[in-house]
Formats: sequence, C-alpha cells, structure tokens
Amino acid sequence: SQDAVKQMKQAVAKAAADRVQSGMVVGLGTGSTTAFVIEFLGDRLRNGELSNIRGVPTSFQASVLAKQYGIPLVTLDDVTKIDVAIDGADEVDPAKNLIKGGGAAHTREKIVDSLADQFLVVVDSSKLVERLGSTFPVPVEVLPLALSPVSRALTALGGKPELRMGVKKDGPVITDQGNFVLDVTFAEIADAAALEKTINNIPGVLENGLFVNVADVVLVGELVEGQPRVR
Ligand code: A5P
Repeated sequence: SQDAVKQMKQAVAKAAADRVQSGMVVGLGTGSTTAFVIEFLGDRLRNGELSNIRGVPTSFQASVLAKQYGIPLVTLDDVTKIDVAIDGADEVDPAKNLIKGGGAAHTREKIVDSLADQFLVVVDSSKLVERLGSTFPVPVEVLPLALSPVSRALTALGGKPELRMGVKKDGPVITDQGNFVLDVTFAEIADAAALEKTINNIPGVLENGLFVNVADVVLVGELVEGQPRVR
C-alpha cells in the first residue's frame, strides 16, 4: 500500500541522514525519498546533533526543501569536494547500477553524485531489479531544438522514445535547465555501460539516466512482517 511504501522510504531516509557528520558537504538528491532525508537532516541540525553541514542541491526541489528545513546551500563553485551525496533511484540492479531521472533531475544528479567521495543510494525494495530497463524507461534530457534528430537516433539504437508530458502542465515537461525529456524504452539493455556512453554521444543530448559505476552504497528500506527495516 501507499502507507507501506512511505514507511520504507522514511526508514531508509533516516538511516542515510544518520550517516552524515558535522562539517560535511552533502549532495542533496531529488525525489520523495530524499525529501525525507532533507527533512531528517534539518531535524538533526535543529536539535544540535549536527552542525556546519552544507548542501549541494541536485534540483529546484532539493533547494526549496533545503531552505525550508534550514540546510545552508552552496554551489559547485564554492566547494572543491562533496563528502557524501544521498540520492534516490528508479531502478537498482545487483551491480549497483541505476536508472534515474523519473523526476527529470538526472543531469544535475549525475554531476553531483559522481563528484561525491561517497554516493549513497536510498530506495525502497520496489526499486530492485535483476536487469536495468525491465520496469522503467531510460530518461534522456534533450535540447528542445534537437528533439527530432535525437528521437531518430534513439530509435536507430533500438529504443522507443516518448516525449515526457506534464501532469499539471499542458505540453512537455521542462527540466530545471529548460530542456525536454524523452523516456526511452529498450526491449533489452545488454550493456548498460556502453548504452550510457552511446546515448550521451548523440548531439543534442545533455545526459541520460543510466548511472553505471557511480553508486558506492545502496541502502534499501523494506518491510519485514509489517515492520520497516533497512539493509
Ligand atoms: C529524480 O530525477 C530521480 O532520479 C529520483 O532520484 C528518483 O525518481 C527517485 O524518486 P523517489 O525517491 O520518489 O522514488
């Protein structure tokens, strides 16, 4: 149920927020799970358990929430390193490779997450898959003027690109950078590392949501006999 998923997300978010130490620069991810992480980091700052952390947001969502919960923000021009990035995912395979971008934030997420000394992934158990692409298409951020040629190039690679449309907006979803998103379904992703590079080589593509060899630790929230647990 909805409530069970929420409990798993909160449990894993709490475990991740508890790993952050005073003085750290923290990459702040995007999505409903990391929204709880940001809230819990704010709680720890307020109750004095934690001090002097600075956040690097991966989206407008993360920066709005960080301001709301009192986490000071910095940009990549202000810091030379990120100690830990905490971010969600849409799919996680057994090798810790990911599909991200369900929230259209994967371009900034990949920059921040791959810069971090440690990239900590927070998911509920519904995100675990044997093979990437089995439940989720690959999100691709595209410059609007290149939509047609990029769509043709993705089709030539065996994908089925679909322009992501807004839910509370008419027309296409516009990313935080002002671009479009194509959700690309592949019948099978045999080599995720190769596909990640090939897609990014298409002129007009900003970034795709395959994250191969970026995650260091995956924390999974699950329900065992009705009780939330993290592994
Ligand atoms: C954002 O673009 C995605 O990469 C998110 O990290 C992903 O959609 C996870 O979101 P939830 O935590 O809401 O599942």
